[in-house]
Amino acid sequence: MDKISSIRGMPDVFEYDSNYLAELNEILSKIFFSHNLNEVNTPILEQTELFVRSTGVTSDIVNKEIYSFNDRNEQSLSLRPEGTAGVVRSIIQKKLDSSEHKLWYQGPMFRYERPQKGRFRQFNQAGVELLGFEEGSSDLEIISIVCDIFIELELEDSVLKINHLGDKETKERFLSELLKYLKTYKGELSDNDKEKLNKNPLRILDSKDIDLKEFFSKGPKIIDFLSSDQLNLLDNIQSIFGKYVEIELDSSLVRGLDYYTGLVFEAVSSNLGAQDSFLGGGRYDELSKDLGGKEMPAIGFAIGLERLNLIKKQKNIKSKKVISFVTTSSKMNALAFKIAQLLRSHNYSIRLETNFTDASLKAKLRKASKLGAKFVFIMGEEEFKSDSITVKSFDEDGYQVNMSFEEILDFYKDI
Ligand code: HAM
Repeated sequence: MDKISSIRGMPDVFEYDSNYLAELNEILSKIFFSHNLNEVNTPILEQTELFVRSTGVTSDIVNKEIYSFNDRNEQSLSLRPEGTAGVVRSIIQKKLDSSEHKLWYQGPMFRYERPQKGRFRQFNQAGVELLGFEEGSSDLEIISIVCDIFIELELEDSVLKINHLGDKETKERFLSELLKYLKTYKGELSDNDKEKLNKNPLRILDSKDIDLKEFFSKGPKIIDFLSSDQLNLLDNIQSIFGKYVEIELDSSLVRGLDYYTGLVFEAVSSNLGAQDSFLGGGRYDELSKDLGGKEMPAIGFAIGLERLNLIKKQKNIKSKKVISFVTTSSKMNALAFKIAQLLRSHNYSIRLETNFTDASLKAKLRKASKLGAKFVFIMGEEEFKSDSITVKSFDEDGYQVNMSFEEILDFYKDI
């Protein structure tokens, strides 16, 4: 019989990758909790119309990436390509669109993109949406959450790019100049760019055409059209958070979704290759009205968990959570199992892998390293005699210390 394989771009997430993803989720949910956000869960399947009206007719998502099908009732449904639209739809449906909400979510998203490193057709996002908040302190708050993620996950070699798309009036003035400038372009616009120009001209800045990009780099910049409040916001972000995170003003950043209005931002990492953006977001003050709701200014972002995982792997960041406990002889088994049980009861958030087999110490250390263990606890002859354990760090410092049973329980509690 022929074997059945998974769908291209929708890999099974397995063992270590799964564990890493669970760990990332745990860290992120703690950060979100500490910012007083509440978790929200919306369905994976929505009416196709929701994504057409939110991500927009010029977005790649609606044009070529959405997974849509008619159900048995001939209703067009789609697998969600992102989380923001569903969250806003849900708030409107519950008639909660006149109050403030600070929400986060996590789950699978689906886009029919060409699979490559860091790009899948099913992937996981964790997202935050602050709904009902006007431009100002909520923009700073959202960047502070991004900062906490950078710090907690040690993403110091990543850059946060920011831009402001202006309000309606700024945008109109900028676009009229941009279109005037575009008239002098001698190249041929692709069909895709022509369509963008027709439906949402600002998105032309996001063109994939290298010549056109180069042409725009010498043209009018939105930053020169922003109001003093809008410029102040960009300045404030840089001065408050620039100490913790590398922030770069990028006036060509427009983002691939149609719903953005004011501040937009994207985090990129040099560890990711072509798909270097691992976090993206911005303000979307018009989305609630576009979906039939009340005026509800809002701002949010989402992170791709697989891309974060890749960064972690590239940087070889070991999981703090895995520790391997090894012995050198079977006569130590009774004591070793007792110590392992005591250790676990002191900190259930650590994965304690016991390796009390007959394999050599060298093989056990190799296995522990492969597991991504941060430390190995070794009970050899000397330790067995002296009621102690040797702790070997797998970090670059590679230190090794001997601890009494009491000391190791204290150490384990605080890892
Ligand atoms: P997005 O930039 O389309 O924004 O996606 C956010 C993140 O999801 C990306 O930075 C990337 O890490 C990840 N991602 C996107 N496509 C793929 C893919 N094919 N494979 C793997 N990872 C991927 C949004 O989705 C907005 N909803 C963010 C937002 C929330 N804006 C306001 N609120």
